[in-house]
Amino acid sequence: MNRSLEMLFILFTAITVLQTVTGVDIFETERTLYNGFSVLRTEDTDEPLIEAIRSSTEVWKVTVDNATYLDILVKPELQNMIEQLLNCANMSYTTLIQDLQKAIDLENEESDEVAVASFKTSCATTSGMSWTQYQSYDTISSYMDCLGSQYGYIAQLYTIGSSSEGRPLKVIKIGTEGRGQRKQSIWIDGGIHAREWISPAAVSYLLMELVENTNTHSDLLNQYDVYVMPVMNPDGYEYTRESNRMWRKTRSLNRGSSCRGVDPNRNFGYEWGGKGTSQDPCSDIYRGSSAFSEPETQAVRDFITARKRNIKMYLTFHSYGQMVLYPWGYDAVDHRDENELDRVGRIGSRAAGNKYTVGSAAKVLYPAAGGSDDWAMSEGIKFSYTIELPDTGSHGFILPANQIIPVSKEALQAVKSMADSI
Ligand code: ARG
Ligand code: ZN
Repeated sequence: MNRSLEMLFILFTAITVLQTVTGVDIFETERTLYNGFSVLRTEDTDEPLIEAIRSSTEVWKVTVDNATYLDILVKPELQNMIEQLLNCANMSYTTLIQDLQKAIDLENEESDEVAVASFKTSCATTSGMSWTQYQSYDTISSYMDCLGSQYGYIAQLYTIGSSSEGRPLKVIKIGTEGRGQRKQSIWIDGGIHAREWISPAAVSYLLMELVENTNTHSDLLNQYDVYVMPVMNPDGYEYTRESNRMWRKTRSLNRGSSCRGVDPNRNFGYEWGGKGTSQDPCSDIYRGSSAFSEPETQAVRDFITARKRNIKMYLTFHSYGQMVLYPWGYDAVDHRDENELDRVGRIGSRAAGNKYTVGSAAKVLYPAAGGSDDWAMSEGIKFSYTIELPDTGSHGFILPANQIIPVSKEALQAVKSMADSI
C-alpha cells in the first residue's frame, strides 16, 4: 500500500470503529431509513482493502455473465472515503444504487406484468394473494390455508411449529394420495433470510403452479411429492416490511444482548459454528447460542428428519446473485457426489436461462457453516442446493415487484428440469 492509502486506511478504520454497522435505528420500533445509502459494485479481488471495508459494512458477492463482483453497502458518511479508497487501490467501481431508500420506496409498486389465467384463482382472490406485488406473511399464510381446504385431494397443509413471535410455520405437501412409502419427494423452502423478498414470492409462485395448475406439471407430480415452505423466517420477513428493509436474521431475543436475531442459515447443525459465522449476537451472521437454537430451524429439522428417507432433493431459495450452489458450504472441501451435483445444477441453470453460476457454495461464494443445504446433505439428502435468485443487474435485494413473475417462471423451469434429471 502506498502512503496516502495507508493514511486513508487508518482514518477509515478509526471512523468505522466509532460507528455501528448499518442503519439508523435508534428506537427499535421506528422504521430504519436508508436515505443517501448507496451500493457500489467493484471487482472481486483479494485486495486487503476489501477486508477492511467488510469489517465495517456489508459486502455481497454476485455473478454476472460468469464474472464475479462485490457489491458494497455504503452509508452516506462513508461515501467519499470509500470512493477515495477504491480509487487509491486502483479498483474500478460503478454505482449500482444511488439512493437505497428511493429504491425501497419504489420496489413494491404494483406491477402490470401480465399474468396467465391461472393466477386469478379462487384462492388468490379470497386471500388477496398476487404475484404482482410482494405480500405480507398473513396474506401468504391465508393463501396456504385456502389451498389446504380447497384442494384437499392434492394439497395437505402442515403447521410444523411456530416462530419466536408466535407466527405459524406452514408447509404444504403437494402429492397424490395412496402411493404409500415408495414415492420420493422434494423439499423446497424460501424466506430463510428476511430481506430476500423475491424468495418467498417465487416459492409461493411455485406452490400456486403446482397446486392450482397441476395438469401442467403432471410429469413432476407423478414422480414426486413436493413439500413447499414459502417463508421459513416469517418474523424476520414482517420486520423487513414494517421496520428495517435490510434485516436478515430471525427476531429472537438473545440473552445478555440487546441485539436480536440469529442467522437461520448459520444455525443448522452440521459443522455448526465454523467458518463464516459469528458469535456476536449483533452480527448479521450470528450462529445462535447453539445449533438449532431457533424454533424455525428446529421445526424444519424435525419435519425433514422424520421424512428424510423419502426426500431426494432439498432446494432452498435465497437472493441475490444468480447462483446454483451445492455443498459443501462450510469449507472448500471436496466430496464424492460433487460431479453429480454439478451436472444437475447445470441442468437447472440452463433451464432458468443460463445466467446462473453453478458451483460448490464454499468454493464459488465463500465458506459459511451451519447452512441448511449442508445439513440436508449430511442427513442423506444427496441433491441439496441453494439457489440464489436474481438480481444481478441493478437492484440487488430491492428487486421491483414487476420482476416477481419472470423470475418465478425461471425458477419453476429450474426446479422441474432438476427434478427430472435426478
Ligand atoms: N448466501 C447464502 C448465505 O450466506 C449462501 C449459503 C450457501 N450455503 C452454505 N452452506 N454456505 O447464507
Ligand atoms: Zn440468503
